[in-house]
Amino acid sequence: MEKIGVFYGSDTGCTDDITKDLVSLWGADQLDVREIDDVSKEDFDQFKILILGLSTWYDGDLQSDWEAFYDDFQEIDFTGKVIALYGLGDQIGYGEYFVDGIGILAKVILENGGTIIGHWPIEGYRFTDSVAVIEEKDDHFYGLAIDHDNESELSDARLEKWVNQVKSELKPHLLSKEEYIEI
Ligand SMILES: Cc1cc2nc3c(=O)[nH]c(=O)nc-3n(C[C@H](O)[C@H](O)[C@H](O)COP(=O)(O)O)c2cc1C
Repeated sequence: MEKIGVFYGSDTGCTDDITKDLVSLWGADQLDVREIDDVSKEDFDQFKILILGLSTWYDGDLQSDWEAFYDDFQEIDFTGKVIALYGLGDQIGYGEYFVDGIGILAKVILENGGTIIGHWPIEGYRFTDSVAVIEEKDDHFYGLAIDHDNESELSDARLEKWVNQVKSELKPHLLSKEEYIEI
């Protein structure tokens, strides 16, 4: 049975906390969870389905471990892979770069042939700009945006709703119950 790869990076522990919540909501037995600084680009070959998590830093930059991995990330062939993204950011302090990291990863995944599921509405957030907003569908981010700095009280509900959405969007991509885990 093939698991889902959850690869994430966190500088001050917030994405780490959200990832733990994600794992308990999803069910740990279905996931293979790794920090991105422990991952090589060949590790991506093992997974058809991936959930990638990160925070955004320094005016629209990737979290530091993702930044270090970015050259390798750009060389990954995502053809046939289905990816969901979640990102942490601060819409008040960094409203011109809110969760940009989601958008930076999304653009590489799409350019390299991947499919992104788990688009998330921008409604309810206050920010001025973000590369995580989908150009052709500008009322959605490419993935779940969590603002733990300003709206931590909303994080649990956002995450739970998104997990259910991603599970349901994944169903058409699962070939058979024998080949893939039952979601
Ligand atoms: C110096 C600094 C720069 C930041 N830059 C951004 C940014 O450009 N965009 C954004 O959305 N959030 C930004 N943030 C907010 C972080 O992404 C947010 O605090 C996040 O929860 C950190 O997650 P982590 O602990 O997993 O790294 C910044 C925070 C700090 C302290």
